[in-house]
Amino acid sequence: MGGPSSEREVSLSTGRGCVEALRGEGYEVIEVDCGPDLPMRLSDLKPDVCFNALHGRWGEDGCVQGILEWMRIPYTHSGVLASALAMDKARTKDVYRAHGLPVVDSLILPKAQVMAAHALQPPYVVKPNNEGSSVGVYLVTEGANGPPKLSDTMPEMVMVEAYVPGRELTCSVMGAGPDDPGALTVTDILTDGWYDYAAKYVAGGSRHVVPAQVPQEIFDACMDMAVTAHRALGCRGVSRTDFRWDESRGLAGLVLLETNTQPGMTPTSLTPEQAAACGISFGALCRWLVEDASC
Ligand code: DAL
Ligand code: MG
Repeated sequence: MGGPSSEREVSLSTGRGCVEALRGEGYEVIEVDCGPDLPMRLSDLKPDVCFNALHGRWGEDGCVQGILEWMRIPYTHSGVLASALAMDKARTKDVYRAHGLPVVDSLILPKAQVMAAHALQPPYVVKPNNEGSSVGVYLVTEGANGPPKLSDTMPEMVMVEAYVPGRELTCSVMGAGPDDPGALTVTDILTDGWYDYAAKYVAGGSRHVVPAQVPQEIFDACMDMAVTAHRALGCRGVSRTDFRWDESRGLAGLVLLETNTQPGMTPTSLTPEQAAACGISFGALCRWLVEDASC
């Protein structure tokens, strides 16, 4: 847990919850806040399994997975390739497209160009290609005076994506094999404004309707597409695919935004809530992840 990414605090929250749940399931758990000495610590500790509770760069993008493969330590969630692919939003879209999954068009452009003039007709969204939890996401609203002023912490190249009005839906997948639970359910995320970092992690920042009260056709499409995305990216363990749905356009208004290979497991997170709605407790979800671990 922890680590140096912009989602460090989210990961610490995920990690603490999982540690408590795994102890409740009878596992002996050692908490490790990941730093550059991680390989040395792992070689001293010699764990049976690494429960990966990291989010964002280095922990969700194949880097830590590569260390664990190299050390032959079984670990939870996705492997090197799926993690690296899913962390890159543009390449994820290439994989989605190749599997017939709907996406909204986007551009990868230099930051300076995005700040100089509108890269798309507003409304549009500017975001890092490889961060999570809405860190560094800018919404340029209709009628905005000019292009956004991006912070110095934004990467040199950023994604510019057409804004899809409507609803934010999400669906977690617990394995896509014949004996796995598969797609859990669909959540409709209701916020007063934008589903940003605060709306995600402040209690009461958003309201989750589980199962989503949307037409059956949309619900089923999210369940099917989340499984297709999980398989297409080669995910393992739990993943969560996020959608936007412009209800005025029916099924044609449904697009995939991204697949999270290390979905949040904090008290306000969506995946544990979806599991609970399917009768899978937080402890059972954590146990399933440990039993699913491999290298
Ligand atoms: N990136 C956060 C942790 C999520 O997808 O839940
Ligand atoms: Mg994400």
